[in-house]
Amino acid sequence: MSHRIETKVSITAQGTCLARTVSYYEKDSNYKSDDYVAPVMGPPFLGFLAKHDFSRKLLKNCFLKAPGNYEYLIARTKFIDAMFKNMGGNVEQIVVFGAGFDSRAIRFQKELKNATVFELDAPVTQQAKRERIRGANIQLPENLKFISIDFNKEAVSEKLDEAGFKQNKTCLFLLEGLTMYLNQTSIDQTFQLIDQYTGQDSLIIFDYVSASMVRQEQLQNDPQVIKHYQVLAKAGEKPGFAIDGHIQDFLAKYNLALMEELDSVKLAERYFGEEDLGLLAKKFRIITAKKSG
Ligand SMILES: C[S@@+](CC[C@H](N)C(=O)[O-])C[C@H]1O[C@@H](n2cnc3c(N)ncnc32)[C@H](O)[C@@H]1O
Repeated sequence: MSHRIETKVSITAQGTCLARTVSYYEKDSNYKSDDYVAPVMGPPFLGFLAKHDFSRKLLKNCFLKAPGNYEYLIARTKFIDAMFKNMGGNVEQIVVFGAGFDSRAIRFQKELKNATVFELDAPVTQQAKRERIRGANIQLPENLKFISIDFNKEAVSEKLDEAGFKQNKTCLFLLEGLTMYLNQTSIDQTFQLIDQYTGQDSLIIFDYVSASMVRQEQLQNDPQVIKHYQVLAKAGEKPGFAIDGHIQDFLAKYNLALMEELDSVKLAERYFGEEDLGLLAKKFRIITAKKSG
């Protein structure tokens, strides 16, 4: 964990929450997503500004300017929301790694009523989330368990055991906007744990940065992309981890089989008609994989 998120609320978690807040109030159906909890988890004035067309535009110009970043966050949110919505009753446990201000345990209570949801995140960010939800008088579901952790320093296995996680059940693991902030060791430990702790038919959804895309000159030299990463670096949350080569090779190390890989082209087609999502989105891939052995 960077020094900053040990003491302060994660900037990237707040940025994602702001993107969902702004998106919630959008009029254009491509840009509108459904996270009605996001507006109450950020500072009230941002929620207020997001409601009105003029100030929403201002917010986007100030905070969501990196080309393709906002669109990617919207597409990713919609994709994962749809997975939760169509979950069916067979998933017994859901583990949300680096949950930030993810509100799916609240928004999809009905769909998740037979599952236990474990949310893992850095203590300060998690505490802020709990306070903001309490402040908004939103009832936390009884099946939601919070686990504070630093993935780069603490063992997930111990924390899950303590929280009552049951091994060999059908689970869904979600790492949304997380792998790029972890180091190689904690990536390995996390994916090994997913392999060892889960039963057949368990699913994992995560997104990652493609190393080959990072090397592309266009991305390296775009002034807005450079600025975006300078802001993250200054905030102590510069992404570092990327996956090189075929994703199937990465997944095979952890007995996972690829079900779907979504790149920015597919996301653009699915959620934005034919439009290009923008330069920054090209780095990311969303993976759905299944326990295979
Ligand atoms: C980009 S945010 C994504 C939040 C959430 N998954 C979402 O999509 O709204 C990254 C999250 O990972 C958490 N995180 C990053 N590094 C971490 C670490 N070493 N230990 C625990 N949490 C970490 C941050 O606190 C933050 O909430």
